[in-house]
Amino acid sequence: MWNNTAKVASIGDLVQLVGMRHKSYIFNIVEDKELHTHRGVIKHNDLIGLPFGSVVLSHNESPFFLLQPSLSDILLDLKRITQILYPKDIGYILLKMGIGEGQRVVEAGTGSGGMTIALAYAVGKTGKIASYDQKKEFQNLAKKNLSLVGLEERVEFKIRNIEEGFDETEVDALFLDVMNPYDYIPQVKASIKPGGFFGCLVPTTNQVSRLLHQLRLNQFAFLEVVEVLLRFYKPEPERLRPTDRMVAHTGFLIFGRPLLSELDLDNDNGK
Ligand SMILES: C[S@@+](CC[C@H](N)C(=O)[O-])C[C@H]1O[C@@H](n2cnc3c(N)ncnc32)[C@H](O)[C@@H]1O
Repeated sequence: MWNNTAKVASIGDLVQLVGMRHKSYIFNIVEDKELHTHRGVIKHNDLIGLPFGSVVLSHNESPFFLLQPSLSDILLDLKRITQILYPKDIGYILLKMGIGEGQRVVEAGTGSGGMTIALAYAVGKTGKIASYDQKKEFQNLAKKNLSLVGLEERVEFKIRNIEEGFDETEVDALFLDVMNPYDYIPQVKASIKPGGFFGCLVPTTNQVSRLLHQLRLNQFAFLEVVEVLLRFYKPEPERLRPTDRMVAHTGFLIFGRPLLSELDLDNDNGK
């Protein structure tokens, strides 16, 4: 369980050990278990009761820092059998779609559950996520990933091709990460409350164009297409410069708002 307000590590906690070269291990503390790393063995029992931020030594005296993983650490470490959404995109999506405490949110596809974890975290204890995927094996992994962080109770998993539509209506927000989102826009519109939020990620520009056509046809307004570029720097104060490599492309993000009005607000010909 991810208890990110705890001060000391306890049995069952999801913790992170970071070695000197930043190699990191994220795992639940289990009594009498051992973590085997290329820099030696660490007994889980030695972590119990230790304050976060402490240094622990492996059996061959290699140091590791005991930390609570951030949501970003957890997502990047997740077991996956599908492509997952990256923290850089998820962060913007959550803010852009106003995801917060108590909301009802729908997503498809579940995939490995990366986005599901972030949504479940953002809606808090009183919110609810309905997550759709047509493949059972993907949802099985997503369920495991959700229970790793203790957020599975906030999610209702549904196996379905979303062509058949969503059970939920009047939801606050709906996010799609499927190959052909443009084929499901009437179904999406029937599920989101008027004025709610729609968001989507697709990897290619031709998918973006097809999606924009469909969103306009279905009276989605305030359309936005955006790409989030994230560049890391080497943290050397006297030689500050970008790292040599970067993830240059993950996907394009498309947002829109379903309105009751049928005015074309994105195409006013300059009036
Ligand atoms: C790239 S993965 C989603 C990854 C997920 N957002 C994450 O962060 O882990 C795409 C998923 O969409 C599902 N999918 C594709 N088309 C679908 C459809 N028509 N109905 C339901 N699920 C669909 C696939 O089975 C796959 O699991």
